[in-house]
Amino acid sequence: MPQLLHLDSSADLHSSTSRELTADFAAEWSSLGASYSVIRRDLHTDPLPHIPTDELHWAPRLRTTGRPVPTAADRLQSELIEEVVRADAVVVGAPMYNWSIPSTLKAWIDYIHVPGITTSFDSETMPLAGKPMVVVTSRGNQYGPGTPDELIDHQIPPLRQVFGTALGMDVTFVRAELTLAERVPAMAAWIETSHSNAETARSEVVALARHIAMQLS
Ligand SMILES: Cc1cc2nc3c(=O)[nH]c(=O)nc-3n(C[C@H](O)[C@H](O)[C@H](O)COP(=O)(O)O)c2cc1C
Repeated sequence: MPQLLHLDSSADLHSSTSRELTADFAAEWSSLGASYSVIRRDLHTDPLPHIPTDELHWAPRLRTTGRPVPTAADRLQSELIEEVVRADAVVVGAPMYNWSIPSTLKAWIDYIHVPGITTSFDSETMPLAGKPMVVVTSRGNQYGPGTPDELIDHQIPPLRQVFGTALGMDVTFVRAELTLAERVPAMAAWIETSHSNAETARSEVVALARHIAMQLS
């Protein structure tokens, strides 16, 4: 029963590139048979509260005595961690917002990256190690190697750090760039490139869904 956790964080509910691509991934996954299930979590339409206390960053045994964690937050954290640990694969839509990621996605990360539970601290605990994750990044401009804005990409490097390095997940990034070409008159020369970027990204997510599903079967 390979289960996919499908996350989105775009605030655009009408024409979001990342939402379209994660939906393509999930549709391909589901098309492989009734046993390929999908758990959906929309971090924009159903946002998580910010962590109410820094103590939630730590496994309960590592928390500071006398600094209580609200029970509801504790419960929510357990639910979110169980959900991602239980999934066999994860696809997440991660648009670039202000050179970084939507705060809604950051809030989810703050709940699930927990030393002593999801990453090793005083003992070996890496329950997400090796789990396939596809991060679909959409961004208005372009930030690839050799572009003028290469060094101000604070979207992909932090996500690689937390999901790949800290949590040990097997992360693949799909990049859809220049998505603002049609909206911003000064970017009109990039419209065709943006369309071909979107097509490439679409083929990539479909191929990745099949590849990951086959590896798990
Ligand atoms: C709040 C906000 C901030 C944004 N900041 C940036 C940015 O810093 N750099 C950039 O290239 N595009 C930026 N954009 C454009 C988005 O990255 C682009 O529209 C992308 O396609 C959004 O993802 P989506 O299509 O999946 O919704 C921003 C858009 C929003 C709504």
